[in-house]
Amino acid sequence: MDRIRIEGGRPLKGQIAIGGAKNAALPLMAASLLTDEPLSLSNLPHLVDIATMANLLGQHGVIFGMDGSEAGNGGHAGRVFTLTAGEITSTTAPYDLVRRMRASVLVLGPLVARMGQAKVSLPGGCAIGTRPVDLHLAGLAELGAEIELKEGYIHARAPKGLKGAHIVFPKVSVGATENILMAACLADGETVIVNAAREPEVCDLARCLVAMGAEIEGIGTGTLTVVGEKRLHGATHAVVPDRIETGTFAIAAAITRGDVELVGVERAHIEAVEKTLIEIGVEIAETAKGIRVKAEGNDLVGVDIMTEPYPGFPTDMQAQFMALLATTKGAAMITETIFENRFMHVPELARMGARVNVHGASAIVRGVPHLSGAPVMATDLRASVSLVLAGLAARGETIVNRVYHLDRGYERLEEKLAACGARIERLKD
Ligand code: UD1
Repeated sequence: MDRIRIEGGRPLKGQIAIGGAKNAALPLMAASLLTDEPLSLSNLPHLVDIATMANLLGQHGVIFGMDGSEAGNGGHAGRVFTLTAGEITSTTAPYDLVRRMRASVLVLGPLVARMGQAKVSLPGGCAIGTRPVDLHLAGLAELGAEIELKEGYIHARAPKGLKGAHIVFPKVSVGATENILMAACLADGETVIVNAAREPEVCDLARCLVAMGAEIEGIGTGTLTVVGEKRLHGATHAVVPDRIETGTFAIAAAITRGDVELVGVERAHIEAVEKTLIEIGVEIAETAKGIRVKAEGNDLVGVDIMTEPYPGFPTDMQAQFMALLATTKGAAMITETIFENRFMHVPELARMGARVNVHGASAIVRGVPHLSGAPVMATDLRASVSLVLAGLAARGETIVNRVYHLDRGYERLEEKLAACGARIERLKD
């Protein structure tokens, strides 16, 4: 497996372009199952998770094109992608594909809504907690689907079609909101989703569904009202910029006490992250193309963070902030409220000299004057990138193992960092 080697201690300077959001792209791709007409997605990031979703959709009968033409033998690569689910050839999402990526469960709602049935493997456990799908299933059951769990699979049936319903989620879930939102677009009558997730990726999906002919009100609020249609049609949609990639590179600038312009960002989506960076002592200014993040010569200090559903501080930025706070003055408390077991980067950061104590869902981070390079490894995407960030700041050499996780969510990470002066390279095995 590839590794990444970093020689730390160089302030980053330059420009970094932000790509389309992985977490928006995945549900948008699944939405192609709702219509027999082409759905064209631009600004699609080139990532392993996107290829995994393309494989799954291909197996359901979706045909892919690039810029309107067939992708051919080259597979599914490319930034403008056209997905056409003219005919659904299989309503089964097999274990072998679903186990690779939890977001595969997003095909469930669209398949039941359009085909009246679906058999989707249960995603199973995951490194950052149990992450059940009970809210997805309860929502579909309220829309009239019969749900049965058998031999590791979710069997969902609605032979007479789904029916609109009033669904109150007991807890905010991004994936469950997306699944039910897609299903409700083809249900008979009105569906109200109360306590819906308000994440920008959910809004991006909703806007694309509207472009496909869906009637959705309340986009960006906690209550979504959907009036079901008999059918949806094709559309063209640009994937929203990745707010987590934006935040991650902002930390890269901050942790190396550098000065970097992030190009193509959606600033409104990073408010909580931006506010926290400013409290820490990082300067952020708007530029013609995006934002400039500057920490050169600044005295950075520890602040407390608590993860929350959007518009609160994102759990997907928690690990990266921990790396930064390991290098700032004073103490900081980080509380994780979304996922249990999302502190797996702590022992690895500790190997690089970070001083972190975990008590239940909170971690106390005491800043140290400098981190030191070490061989490290992580078990999930954002934890892995936090180690890369720590490596950029650390004295000496850091080797990050299991680069596989990074490739799931960051496109050309080492190239983008190297272009700003980082000494970073990929070691092929
Ligand atoms: C999405 C993001 C992920 C992010 C997370 C929270 C994608 C592809 N992934 O994941 O990067 O970290 O939102 O912002 O968009 N839960 C239940 N029952 C359910 C569903 C969820 O109890 O049926 C719990 C989860 O275990 C977790 C919480 O709800 O504790 C939030 O999870 P959810 O918002 O569903 O996360 P995902 O959609 O899986």
